[in-house]
Amino acid sequence: MDNSLEDVWWRSAVVYQIYPRSFADSDGDGIGDLRGVLSHLDHLEALGVDVLWLSPVFASPQDDNGYDISDYYAVDPLFGTLADVDELIAGLHARGMKLVMDLVVNHTSDEHAWFTESRDPASDKRDWYWWRPAREGFEPGSEGAEPTNWGSFFGGSAWQFDEASGQYYLHLFSRKQPDLNWENPDVRAAVYAMMNWWVDRGVDGFRMDVINLISKTLPLADGELTPGFPYSQEITRVANGPRLTEFLEEMNVAVGITERQLFTVGEMLASTPAHAREYTSQFHPRLGMVFTFEHMSLDQEPGANKFALKKLHLPDLKRNLALWQDGLADEGWNSLYWENHDQPRVISRFGDDSPRHRVACAKAWATVLHLHRGTPYVYQGEEIGMINAGFSTIEQYADIEAKGWHAMATAAGTPLEAILAGLGVKGRDNARTPMPWSAGPGGGFTTGTPWLPLNADAEVINVDAAVAEPDGVWQHYRELIRLRHELEVVRKGRFELLLPDDEKLWVFTRSLAEEVLLVVANMTSELAGLPMAELPGLEDAEVVLGASAASSDVQTLQPWEARVYRLASG
Ligand code: NOJ
Repeated sequence: MDNSLEDVWWRSAVVYQIYPRSFADSDGDGIGDLRGVLSHLDHLEALGVDVLWLSPVFASPQDDNGYDISDYYAVDPLFGTLADVDELIAGLHARGMKLVMDLVVNHTSDEHAWFTESRDPASDKRDWYWWRPAREGFEPGSEGAEPTNWGSFFGGSAWQFDEASGQYYLHLFSRKQPDLNWENPDVRAAVYAMMNWWVDRGVDGFRMDVINLISKTLPLADGELTPGFPYSQEITRVANGPRLTEFLEEMNVAVGITERQLFTVGEMLASTPAHAREYTSQFHPRLGMVFTFEHMSLDQEPGANKFALKKLHLPDLKRNLALWQDGLADEGWNSLYWENHDQPRVISRFGDDSPRHRVACAKAWATVLHLHRGTPYVYQGEEIGMINAGFSTIEQYADIEAKGWHAMATAAGTPLEAILAGLGVKGRDNARTPMPWSAGPGGGFTTGTPWLPLNADAEVINVDAAVAEPDGVWQHYRELIRLRHELEVVRKGRFELLLPDDEKLWVFTRSLAEEVLLVVANMTSELAGLPMAELPGLEDAEVVLGASAASSDVQTLQPWEARVYRLASG
């Protein structure tokens, strides 16, 4: 294959993610919906994004807020109708934007017709899922009889016993999310047919949920155990299985992904730059880019799960992003993100969300991310500098992961305060609180009772306020997106990390031919001095972004101040 992906449209794009349940509620039931999304397309257009990634709106029992799909061809009445999706496609296309849907095909809901059929051992769908007998020598259904010792990502065993057939089915997520058996070619054909149906309807691509879990290593075998926990959490045992590349290639051809220039991003746990290179190389038709989790695990104790908090050491994060930049510099493509519906708000997680520093801090994190090479993602609310939910009791959490972790950690003897501390920083509900559009009742999100409480600060941090702020977070995101669209060096330039060991500063260059951009950011709440001797050319450089009264003092960065310079060439 040639280098045709080099200039493909989505390599210049900025993506905006909507978690529909929490974006805008049009009918007062407290849950966001498609008509709510439709009523805010101007917001996306004003921001300047190119692509909308919509988290699942398909028919679903909502055990995992739509990541448990019971009919891929239907829209859940909670969110609207197929006609609403058609209107969304048309509305976005009319504005020059694209629609990317969530593709959740590692598993279905246990209420999907495929699975209800599969429950019958005589059904020709039996082999569409992972049914296994009890462990040898164990009474089916008895303690320790699960076919392997795998833990589900949401707590407990990854196997559910089925009384009727005396067998177990695999569910890497909740027991209502049985894993599909991708070894079966009929499963794959059914998935590709469904994808084609959506593309034919006008959808421009897919965000592929946990896609590197679809190929399992056979035979399914026990994993390592973490002391204190009864089930194995060894992700590498279940991720990046031996047939993954083959399945991705097959899918690419069957759906015409490369041929039709569809947007694809594969969510991949336990993925390294080497994996990403293999799956996103422009020389092989597989995926457009992947979401890695490496940079999202730097604030947890190694080997432990995400709630075992560890303070972020800035050089670790800088180096990790640089590793990915270098690893995919010539082959493959990066996705760039801090937030999504599974990750907390970056300002609260890595920064300073106090009223004094919140705005500058949001701008600094945005600047460093958007100046890297790759496709940046903006998660709803990030563009107005939203912060974590601030929940203080376990009852405030709605997320199945939070509940599962609470049960599992309690059983392992972890005190409630420690569980709440972990959830307060990392819980997924932190990013799922409703989008505050205004300071009015219900934050302009709903006229009813929101399904999850609005942030306590919604009267201050909301879209109306952010848009009105001349030098605020919203304007800054618009500038960053404009810069990417205007400057080839932002899209394509080579990346070089400078001062990698500096614990306060994030400094790097992007270069394309003669053009060199220098990004300097103070990632602390104190003043920081720039080592001018190590940054030649800075004295006479032109400020491209971040010019302010403070920037006339070249050497000193204010707390969370970030600037982008163009170095004079020659
Ligand atoms: C990843 C999704 O982003 C997350 O929200 C979901 O719980 C799991 N995959 C299972 O589908």
